[in-house]
Amino acid sequence: MPQNQPKVYLETHGCQMNVRDTETILGLLEGRGWEFTSEPAAADLILVNTCSVRERGEQKTFSELGKYRLLKSDNPRLLVGMAGCVAQQVGAEALARVKGLDFVIGTHNIHELPDVIDERRRTGSPVVRANFSYDDAKVFQAPVRPSERKVTAFVNVSIGCDHKCTYCIVPMTRGSEMSRRSGEILAEIRGLAEAGIREVTLLGQNVNSYGKQIAGELSFGELVRHVARIDGIERIRFTTSHPVDVKRDLVEAMASEPKLMPHVHLPVQSGSNAVLRRMKREYTRERYLEVVRWFREARPEVSITTDIIVGFPGETDEDFGMTMSLLEEVRFDSMFSFAYSPRPGTPALKLDGEIDPGLVNERLIRLQKRGNEIADEFLSAYVGRTVPVLFEGASRQSGSELMGRTPENVAVNVPAPDCRIGRLAAVKITRKMTHTLRGDLPSAGAAAA
Ligand code: 5AD
Ligand code: SF4
Repeated sequence: MPQNQPKVYLETHGCQMNVRDTETILGLLEGRGWEFTSEPAAADLILVNTCSVRERGEQKTFSELGKYRLLKSDNPRLLVGMAGCVAQQVGAEALARVKGLDFVIGTHNIHELPDVIDERRRTGSPVVRANFSYDDAKVFQAPVRPSERKVTAFVNVSIGCDHKCTYCIVPMTRGSEMSRRSGEILAEIRGLAEAGIREVTLLGQNVNSYGKQIAGELSFGELVRHVARIDGIERIRFTTSHPVDVKRDLVEAMASEPKLMPHVHLPVQSGSNAVLRRMKREYTRERYLEVVRWFREARPEVSITTDIIVGFPGETDEDFGMTMSLLEEVRFDSMFSFAYSPRPGTPALKLDGEIDPGLVNERLIRLQKRGNEIADEFLSAYVGRTVPVLFEGASRQSGSELMGRTPENVAVNVPAPDCRIGRLAAVKITRKMTHTLRGDLPSAGAAAA
């Protein structure tokens, strides 16, 4: 039963866009007296912010929601809601798939959440709000969460995507691309800096095409330079980049703007031109390599990471071999790889040449094995070096340690006192773990020496 403040439990799947939306939701609810809980059983509202990029995740979401609604027998006031990309995609159909679901709220509607909750309580009927709205004042509403001591923040520069990659459901769940006005972005970041934020990650499905819908708007590279002039912001990151839209001004900012961190997540998806064509990625392997070269010439230490899809319809052994050889040629510092998952309404459903799941799995294992070896070498090269780390908060492994990141975005765990949170420090890297590093602050003795 709710005691003083109503409590919300929020679960976030998928990409940083959803993480950002969850922050917006928390900001909205906190402004109305809600409190966050990490215990579903203690909640008056359970909200799952969903991802529809792959089928398996979507299935998991439905079964999870089914489990959460069982908690209603202990708390009759409990509401269970679905937000995010699956909500946008399936709309009212979700009510039929999850008995007892109280509301479905789409990607462009999250600012309506307090109304949706009121309406649900008032009418006693489930509520569905999943219509695209291109009113930027609403879609980009971004209350800062003042209660949490945070060091880094996500800031939307755009939403949606105008590319039509044939496997991808995102244009359907997040709509066509809309950029946010630079004045508003910069005002938000100034506010964040005043609230103690030291690092911002500029977010968009494709940040590189930032501004194209607004006459006279800054380019993405120019936007980065303006952000770099904000006092208090020490690090700037961005994600995600479509290789086709990377422009020289961003590359030049990478060369000359020290606040811009040397990391580019540049999804390639495949190393084969034939597959890239069927995916409608609009670039060739050669062009992708050229963009990688631009960044490396601009900033030799830049870390390039990627996403790869294996088993796209018609992928031959030779095509897959081209992906393996691209891995060797670029040497991605880290990589996410996925088995192709057919998604409703996407053009790739019409393509012939389904690949046997056993073969897809074999290819995925080979790719991941080699990808992990390369990632391991990248991490091992840190050992013994001293690197600047921005401390973000307590480490997940140990309460007496802090977690921070290198400029290239590698997590480092360090025994350090809480007063270091939000500060940059030179850290001596001592060990490589599976995906992270361990390090030490220079000891008092060493500092005195
Ligand atoms: N099947 C498998 N992986 C996909 N991705 C997007 N859509 C699909 C799909 N249908 C991957 C891409 C993208 C990442 C976010 O998810 O690699 O870059
Ligand atoms: Fe999907 Fe392609 Fe747009 Fe990325 S660029 S969101 S993969 S359509």
